[in-house]
Amino acid sequence: MELLKNPYLLLALKLLVAGWILKKVYVKTSAWLAYKASVRRHGCQEPPRYPHKEPFLGLDLFMLYMKAFGEKDFLKLNQRMFATYGKTFKVNILGATVIKTMDPEITKCVHATQFDYFGVENIRASPVKNLWGDGITMVDGEKWANRRALIKPSFDVVHISNINNRSLGEHVKRLMDLLPRDGSTVDLMELFKRLSLDTASEFIFGKSMDALSAPDAQKDFLENYFYAQRGTAIRLMLGKRFVFLHRDKKWWDSCEMVNKFLDERVDEALVRLEEGEVSPLEGGKGRLRLIDEMAKATQNRLTLRFQLQNVFTPAHDGAAVTLSNAFFHLSRHPDVYAKLRAEILPTKDLPITYELLNSYQYLKRVYRETQRVTPISTMIQRQCIKSVVLPSGGGKDGKAPFYVQEGDIIEMNFRCTERDKDFWGEDAEEFRPERWEIVRPTWEYTPFGGGPRVCPAMRLVFTEVAYTMVTILREFERIESRDDREWTEEMRTTFQNANGAKVALIPAKAS
Ligand code: HEM
Repeated sequence: MELLKNPYLLLALKLLVAGWILKKVYVKTSAWLAYKASVRRHGCQEPPRYPHKEPFLGLDLFMLYMKAFGEKDFLKLNQRMFATYGKTFKVNILGATVIKTMDPEITKCVHATQFDYFGVENIRASPVKNLWGDGITMVDGEKWANRRALIKPSFDVVHISNINNRSLGEHVKRLMDLLPRDGSTVDLMELFKRLSLDTASEFIFGKSMDALSAPDAQKDFLENYFYAQRGTAIRLMLGKRFVFLHRDKKWWDSCEMVNKFLDERVDEALVRLEEGEVSPLEGGKGRLRLIDEMAKATQNRLTLRFQLQNVFTPAHDGAAVTLSNAFFHLSRHPDVYAKLRAEILPTKDLPITYELLNSYQYLKRVYRETQRVTPISTMIQRQCIKSVVLPSGGGKDGKAPFYVQEGDIIEMNFRCTERDKDFWGEDAEEFRPERWEIVRPTWEYTPFGGGPRVCPAMRLVFTEVAYTMVTILREFERIESRDDREWTEEMRTTFQNANGAKVALIPAKAS
């Protein structure tokens, strides 16, 4: 307080505050002038606004979201909102401006043509830094390019097509041993999840979790892992500004356990590197391990740990949920099952190779239709890091260009785009693989994202799903649904059917 009595210091302080205010006014005015200039030059219009009852933090919409999650109605709520307010509209979520869109033109710009104007780091990284660090899904720019380069070679088709170097056949055989053959009900989702854990852990860590042979083998790790993921979802929803509201010591403990597990995998990889093990990428005969390939490029333990977490999370159940959805649809469409079986039976004695899987055209249609109607992820957010004009989204009909301000968040709801009747026709909500004989979507169909950040595992997922489907189709003549309820959303790390995939598989009669 004494210091404030010094007139020079007081003057300096006043100048500092005045300078700060002037800078703020300057930044805001420049942004406003740039906005006005763009509006004039490009004929930009504002998208419609959601009619908030509480416009400052948008708490009314936040509460509506929470209610919808509780009632398993979040996906349908989004569809209803687009039907009411248009394909692009603005909302306020906890003080952030979010542009919700199902317009494929905007998806194209954000993912690809205007890629450099959008990022994720500012909206994802800091609330979950202790668990996700600076791994590939958290960062932008050069750091992201560097993380992407670390994993890219392992996803190249030449390795993905080599089914044996990650023991896919052995894992699927274990799954087949667990399927009932007496027509009794089985929840395929539960088994597919164990399969995915085994294949993902083998490919990423170089060591299978053996969940199919011993379901409780990694119980501790998995309990902590899922708790850590749940906390991640809550913290990302609260965002940087409100993350302090999430006070859960159990979450921090779970993250620590997960990190310890990942550190052990990193140490094992560093030992293998030191001992000079040769991987199949260099002509060796061993298993292809993503962690070993990354460890060749960097031996930084933290980088490797965070990268593992960033890849294992999208990987651990992606194929499982896709398979469960596929069999859910097949059990309700016995005609599609029969048609699929007719396609693969003529080659039933051939070894299942990447090339064989890719030769089944109807199988590909069933796979695409599954991802269209029931994509496991449903929306992607990006923050605008440099103001930009997008060619559509403005005005009441969403057809005018609109100006996206730096800091605004674009939320691309591709599940709604994939069910848009304007593109897919009146039967857009129905599962009908035959539509793929005619339809050729581009940005209307993006279950794996698009542009430079497209999912690197697209081919890997197709191979695992198709391999498993073909193995089951070869042996079982029919499938019956044992669950009358409609597909009901459940949000985990992905959206899945809350009731699993309860079916009966009827083996072909021995001839
Ligand atoms: C059905 C299964 C899967 C689906 C539908 C899926 C979907 C996606 C989508 C939509 C993105 C883009 C996210 C964004 O733009 O922000 C993505 C990114 C990613 N996925 Fe997948 N994924 C699946 C399985 C997998 C698997 C099995 C792996 C690993 C083995 C994997 C690894 C990744 C990684 C590392 C990224 C981040 C890419 C980047 O930011 O450059 N995904 N995935």
